[in-house]
Amino acid sequence: MNKKSIKIAIDSPAGAGAGTQAKLISQYYNLFYLDTGKIYRLLAYYKLKNPKKFNLSFIRKKVKKIKLSELNNKKLLPNEIGFEASIISKNKKIRGLVDKIQKKYAYKPPKGFNGSCLDGRDITYNILPDADIKFFITANVKIRARRRYKELKLLNKNIKYPDVLKSIKKRDNNDYKRKISPLKRTSDSILINTTNLTINKCFNLIKKIINKKIKSTFKTI
Ligand code: C5P
Repeated sequence: MNKKSIKIAIDSPAGAGAGTQAKLISQYYNLFYLDTGKIYRLLAYYKLKNPKKFNLSFIRKKVKKIKLSELNNKKLLPNEIGFEASIISKNKKIRGLVDKIQKKYAYKPPKGFNGSCLDGRDITYNILPDADIKFFITANVKIRARRRYKELKLLNKNIKYPDVLKSIKKRDNNDYKRKISPLKRTSDSILINTTNLTINKCFNLIKKIINKKIKSTFKTI
């Protein structure tokens, strides 16, 4: 087998199902998975917890010390954290610090993996511009809000669907319209619209695309 490692880049707006697909892809192809939004969420968590301390040197220290296990913490899931993440992620200096750690994992995944799979907002053109396969995963905004509402309801019973919809729309606005690293579909990204797809159907579609690409790129010697 050709030993070249596989790099998969995914960009998507909130609630489109990209995280679910990225996890399935990573398990199936044994790729290291990095949910890059969680890094911004972790910083947002620190900011909300201690706004006075939240300056660039504090952020630099925190980013340097990030442990992957921290990114799985449930405290990062609430809506307010996601929204705050979409505010701090507009900052060029903060993005610069976060970019470094993303690129490290993208290009040097831990030993034992066949490559890496990252999802976020600027992965396809900023973090992994030379990815082997790029996806832009999206869905109708009401469907995305409905899915996010179901997830958030498990954490907070009092959450209301109209509030989640409003927050997703605001977050879309922040992510698509910001000047630095906005969310966009690049011309070489394959569009996957999950509005009418189940998780399995979507994954089967994605698998077909990846298998075809692997066959043509990673030929046996
Ligand atoms: O993906 P998730 O919803 O957890 O991301 C939270 C926020 O972090 C996004 O709304 C976006 O503003 C920001 N983000 C980003 N660039 C990335 C990943 C996330 O700006 N690569």
